[in-house]
Order: sequence, then C-alpha cells, then structure tokens
Amino acid sequence: MGSHLTEKLVNEGHDVICLDNFYTGSKSNVEHLLNRPNFEIMRHDVTFPLYVEVDQIYNLACPASPIHYQKDPVQTTKTSVHGAINMLGLAKRTGSRILQASTSEVYGDPEVHPQEESYWGRVNPIGIRSCYDEGKRCAETLFFDYWRQNEIEIKVLRIFNTYGPRMHPNDGRVVSNFIVQALNNDDITVYGDGSQTRSFCYVDDLIDGMVKFMNTPSEVTGPMNLGNPTEFTIIELAKMIIEMTNSRSKLVLKPLPSDDPRQRKPNIEFAKQTIKWSPNTDINLGLEKTIAYFKALPR
Ligand SMILES: NC(=O)c1ccc[n+]([C@@H]2O[C@H](COP(=O)([O-])OP(=O)(O)OC[C@H]3O[C@@H](n4cnc5c(N)ncnc54)[C@H](O)[C@@H]3O)[C@@H](O)[C@H]2O)c1
Repeated sequence: MGSHLTEKLVNEGHDVICLDNFYTGSKSNVEHLLNRPNFEIMRHDVTFPLYVEVDQIYNLACPASPIHYQKDPVQTTKTSVHGAINMLGLAKRTGSRILQASTSEVYGDPEVHPQEESYWGRVNPIGIRSCYDEGKRCAETLFFDYWRQNEIEIKVLRIFNTYGPRMHPNDGRVVSNFIVQALNNDDITVYGDGSQTRSFCYVDDLIDGMVKFMNTPSEVTGPMNLGNPTEFTIIELAKMIIEMTNSRSKLVLKPLPSDDPRQRKPNIEFAKQTIKWSPNTDINLGLEKTIAYFKALPR
C-alpha cells in the first residue's frame, strides 16, 4: 500500500520521504519514483527513533500478512508499539499530523456484523495472531493517549482487506495466494470449508480514502473504517479467480488456522459521511489488474 500512497503524493507534488526496513516491502515497488526530485527513500526501522522535518506522517510500517507477522512475533509487536511511540514522538516534535494504518483485526473474531467503529472487538490476547492484533490495538491506545496528553493531530484508520498490484507473491494473503496458485495451475488451498466471508477493497480506492482522511479538519480523529462492504465467501473468490485465469487448479480444503475470523465486513457510514468516500472499483476490474501484475512477475 505504501508504494501506491507514495506515488499518489509524489504525483500531487508533495515532498515525500519514504521509510522502509524492507522486511516485507521491496525497493522495486518504488523504483519508478527514484528519479523524481520530490522523492527520497531511506532505510529505517521504525522501532528506532527518527529525526527528520516533516508536516504529515503516514505510519504504515508493519508486516501485514500472518506468514510474515508470525515469523518474528516479538518484532511485530515492537514494530507496532515502539514504532507508534517513535512516530508519535516525531509528530510531537515537528507538530505534524499523523495517520495510523490500523486494521479490522482490532475487531478480532467479531460478534457484531458488520463491524462499526464503536465496537470494541473480541480479540484473543495470547494466540498466534495476537502479536499483530494486540500490537495494533496498543498502537491505537498510544495514538489516543498522545492526542489527549499532547494535543497531537491524529487520524486512526482501520483498514479492511485490501489487495492490488505490488503485493508480495509469497505473502500468504488470500487474494495473492489464490492468484499465484491459479496461474501455476496448482491446487488452490482453502482454509476451513470456505464459507467464511471477507470483503476486498482495491488498493487505489483505499489510498484515495486514506489521503482524504488525512486531510480532514483536526477534530476528526477516527477511528475510521475503510474497506469494501461487498462480501464474498472464500470459495466464491477462488472460483472467480480460477475462471478469470482460465486455470486448471482444483480447490483443496485445509484445516482453519486458530483464531481465524468467520466474518469480516466494514460498516463505512462514518467514512461516507465524513470524507464522502465509498469504494468504486468493481471486484472483476480489481482482480483483472492484480492478475495482470502477477502474470508479469518472473515465475
Ligand atoms: N493490506 C491489507 O489488507 C491491510 C489491512 C489492514 C491493515 N493493513 C496495514 O496497512 C499497512 C500496510 O500494509 P500492506 O498491505 O501494504 O503490507 P506490506 O507488507 O506490503 O507493507 C508493510 C511495509 O512495512 C515495512 N515494515 C515492516 N516492519 C517495519 C519496520 N520495523 N520499520 C520500517 N518498515 C517496516 C515492510 O517492509 C513493508 O514495506 C500495515 O501497517 C498493515 O498492518 C493492511
């Protein structure tokens, strides 16, 4: 997502410093921006303090897929928690406004459907997903405490499943997994019976909403849900991808990993009212563009 955000901001004429420790990100995603005079790239780990002069901070740093965030769970929590402290410290020192890329995972395995911002969530604090979920929840707490204590301008954004070009092919996320498996004519692995639902937002729509939220008046802090409320079962998604790639892949059911949420669907009324936003990329068009990206990758 960060490369799409950076591209948009650079094209709008902003001076952008892009920070990444390249844990899951890739330099090739921003390679096309390297010769732009208003773009800089810096290798930096947000768990360490940073001293630069800025007026807006988008904090997206965090491994986002279970495969990556579970590989080094302690580092994942550090990235969310120490990362938030360091970036909030930077916002405090520079007087900048700061946006946190939080997640629908703060709702855990929800008893409320669709999820609205006032719902406190149902999260296991000691499970294998907790490093991500609780790390992001703690980051939200820190954002609101810095806001209450230091009057920093904060924007807390709860992002629901987002997909699109530049995803890591081995990310283990459902859209990228299915597309890569379908293009290779490999079995498509569905966890559980595939009746669990997800909603999928195309990256351009999400980034458009993110920038709009950042530029709302200072009293708008969020949390704000952004995502696509159109729900699909995992089986429906798999079948759609098989058809669009003309694949010979077969569906194979595997046991559901622990704490996997049954249902996820955002209530986006707050975003509709506040930033006049709703996603407008049809799933077929979004998948077409994403499939084209994966097809072009060396295999
Ligand atoms: N894609 C989604 O569906 C989704 C949903 C909810 C929330 N989010 C959040 O949005 C943000 C971006 O997600 P994405 O999907 O683009 O994932 P991504 O893995 O492509 O991007 C995360 C980036 O953070 C970098 N990073 C990780 N740890 C870091 C550290 N300690 N210091 C500096 N950089 C670090 C990675 O190298 C990578 O470039 C993440 O914070 C994620 O939790 C994403």
